[in-house]
Amino acid sequence: MTAKTIDGVALSKLIRAEVATRAAGLAARGRQPGLAVILVGDDPASAVYVRNKVKACEEHGLRSVMEVYPASLGEAELLARIKLLNADASIHGILVQMPLPKHIDPQKVIETIATAKDVDGFSVHSAGALMAGLPGLRPATPWGCMKLIESTGVALKGKHAVVIGRSNTVGKPMALLLLQAHATVTVCHSGTPDLAQHTRQADIVVAAVGRRGTLTADMVKPGAIVIDVGINRNEAGKLCGDVDFEAVREVAGWITPVPGGVGPMTITMLLVNTVQAAEAA
Ligand code: GUN
Repeated sequence: MTAKTIDGVALSKLIRAEVATRAAGLAARGRQPGLAVILVGDDPASAVYVRNKVKACEEHGLRSVMEVYPASLGEAELLARIKLLNADASIHGILVQMPLPKHIDPQKVIETIATAKDVDGFSVHSAGALMAGLPGLRPATPWGCMKLIESTGVALKGKHAVVIGRSNTVGKPMALLLLQAHATVTVCHSGTPDLAQHTRQADIVVAAVGRRGTLTADMVKPGAIVIDVGINRNEAGKLCGDVDFEAVREVAGWITPVPGGVGPMTITMLLVNTVQAAEAA
């Protein structure tokens, strides 16, 4: 059996078309969705991510404001800037790109962003709303994974999902979203003794570790849905995920590629969150 590829680029296109329609509707009523993206420092990877977010806004009728500050920016200055954006009615979403320089406390920064503008969904309030099953802004990457899983048409009720990774940004919210969709969820991590014993039971595996070769073919139940959140490089410098794609696709029922799977969905769901925030404003 060769797995069907879940095309994150194609799904992104569909969702982004909806985003553009909603953004145009808001703009017609004088409320064009606005996203502020803040980058502190000169990390090249972060600069690329931030540019891609701004570009995606422009392409879909959202207004974006990009602010780049030197790594020497003081924490108090950053917090003051966020407070001004909180009070700016033309801005509906605020995203401070992580990681931040060491002298800035990321949690303090996240908690300073107004709850209604927390389009990353990283704040304690947003995390709590997800935990409690209340409406709110969901972290873009795990939410994008949910959309990819839903696109297979496989009903999650009664299915067993295994999440590998327990980060606040992906693993933990992923587990909660799967629970909310009535899956039975196991969360594995670097301290899990026999990872394969868990993944072999899984109808859905979400690999979010950041280490290539984490999920190999012998660890996958035939027909399973495999979602690869990893972004790594192999010895040849080629982009690859956490999943041994070529071998696992011979066992799985569905699989996301890297690139072209989860990656495009992350920015797509950020756009969705920004439009949602503007609609709620
Ligand atoms: N750095 C890497 N991914 C992300 C993200 O989704 N949001 C923010 N704010 N920073 C990141």
